[in-house]
Amino acid sequence: MTAPWWRAGVIYQIYPRSFQDTDGDGIGDLKGIARRLDYLAGLGIDAIWISPIYPSPMADFGYDVADYCGVDPRFGTLADFDELLDQVHARGLKLLLDFVPNHSSDQHPWFVESRASRLNPKRDWYLWRDPAPDGGPPNNWISDFGGSAWEWDEATGQYYYHAFLKQQPDLNWRNPAVQAAMHEVMRFWFDRGVDGFRIDVLWHMIKAADFPDNPPNPDYRPGMGEMHRVLQLHSADQPEIHAIAAGMRALADGYGARGQDHVAFGRNRPNAKNMIDSKSLEHCSRKKPVPIFSRNALGERLLIGEIYLPLDRLMDYYGGAQAGVQLPFNFQLIDAPWQARALATLIANYEAALPPGGWPNWVLGNHDRQRIASKRGEAQARIAAMLLLTLRGTPTLYYGDELGLSDVPIPPAQLQDPRELREPGLGLGREPVRTPMPWDAGAHAGFSTVSPWLPLNADWPMRNVAGMAEEPASILTLYRQLLALRRAHPALAIGDFSLLDSEGDVLAYERRYEAQALIVALNLGGSEQRLTLPPWASGHRPILSTRGEAPRVESHVLRLRADEGVILAA
Ligand code: NOJ
Ligand code: MG
Repeated sequence: MTAPWWRAGVIYQIYPRSFQDTDGDGIGDLKGIARRLDYLAGLGIDAIWISPIYPSPMADFGYDVADYCGVDPRFGTLADFDELLDQVHARGLKLLLDFVPNHSSDQHPWFVESRASRLNPKRDWYLWRDPAPDGGPPNNWISDFGGSAWEWDEATGQYYYHAFLKQQPDLNWRNPAVQAAMHEVMRFWFDRGVDGFRIDVLWHMIKAADFPDNPPNPDYRPGMGEMHRVLQLHSADQPEIHAIAAGMRALADGYGARGQDHVAFGRNRPNAKNMIDSKSLEHCSRKKPVPIFSRNALGERLLIGEIYLPLDRLMDYYGGAQAGVQLPFNFQLIDAPWQARALATLIANYEAALPPGGWPNWVLGNHDRQRIASKRGEAQARIAAMLLLTLRGTPTLYYGDELGLSDVPIPPAQLQDPRELREPGLGLGREPVRTPMPWDAGAHAGFSTVSPWLPLNADWPMRNVAGMAEEPASILTLYRQLLALRRAHPALAIGDFSLLDSEGDVLAYERRYEAQALIVALNLGGSEQRLTLPPWASGHRPILSTRGEAPRVESHVLRLRADEGVILAA
């Protein structure tokens, strides 16, 4: 197998507040992640992506960054981070950070300066506009968290733009100094040895230069969330974003693409330092050059873009003449109708839409979206696991999904997510999917020595890693088996994909690599189904079922029980 690590590999998302606490504050931390690395390596994943760990007032739980080149004391220190990264690499795993370039915290020194006066050199680092003639906001843009996206600043008599909270002012990516400063941030972490970034709201980063009103959304209904009142035609997904993404990619490629070595420390650096005053860079000065030998060993650096867009728009983020991100996140499975024919069409359309050389990727959930077990039910969560880990493309798992964790109801007094608090009661809150990882049946599920920051899943005495690891029929065991099969069969990891003819609730496809062809057959319904195997597969037999003991194949017909998924091999 010669594919770069991120094509063959599986990514595991960690929400750091909720993975493992080691200092008894009820909040997960970097030492906690380090403590659980053997679990992750044993599970069989290849890379971890950690949601933001930077110093932050936590107005949006870390997606409001006050210092891009540090670690929040709640999570630990930069030394803890370096130690974690060494431990990750020692196990042959990769580590991706969450990069939040669209907006900073309003407490970031850049914004503190920017709002100090209209003449401040950093004024243009953010998006400041005069009021409309009536004194109101400059246009009708709505924050993704509800309400106007413009905040009035009394002291300087202008509005600033924030696509999210007012504590998250948007940076002005049309300003070359902002670009240079953010590139410096990326170098800071790449130089430490980070293997890549998940880029927060990549499609939001550039807005139409003249800030026209967004058109009303004809499909808006109350209860959808106020952001849906308008279509984000001018406030997101602007053509200039692709040059920005290409710039980040070129920088990442300078670190280890396709086996290049990078002996010249800090090579590939434009005149960033001439464009911005040195104070902006103080925080990001390299404190620990990574030894050249280990940087060479790291291989390609990966950029993943968080992008919620329709298929045709999404594909542009792979890049055109210039490469974009390697993986524009494909969230389609999260909202897809859970129906065999509809999923077959969705998969075929996605495969067909990929640009030449574009590598697919699949996601079932993340820290913003309903958990798969809640959305599809416990039985179909197992089917979803088999689907995610056998489709062509890089899968990203969300922590806890391997336990079949459901959304956890949060008592009103404990609700902290601004998404919930700003538009209460619409089910938009994200804390139900951010609850602590249940590790064992001991106090606080082994997550902490004290009561955790969010409640545990009520069924944690049964639904926890230690218990489920021992159960042959648990979903955790199934995840382990699926990940082991991916590792053992290049056909699953990097092989070709084609749909097979199937009927009823069955979704079936073939994965092929050189002489090896595997078949995946998934029953998306609650009644027995049949699949007639293609003639070339008459000798194929089940090697894994989501329901334990393998089903029967009789005269070319595979009988799938309710909610059963099967992988067959020759
Ligand atoms: C997307 C992140 O996934 C979400 O959690 C966050 O609130 C917004 N971006 C703003 O950064
Ligand atoms: Mg802690």
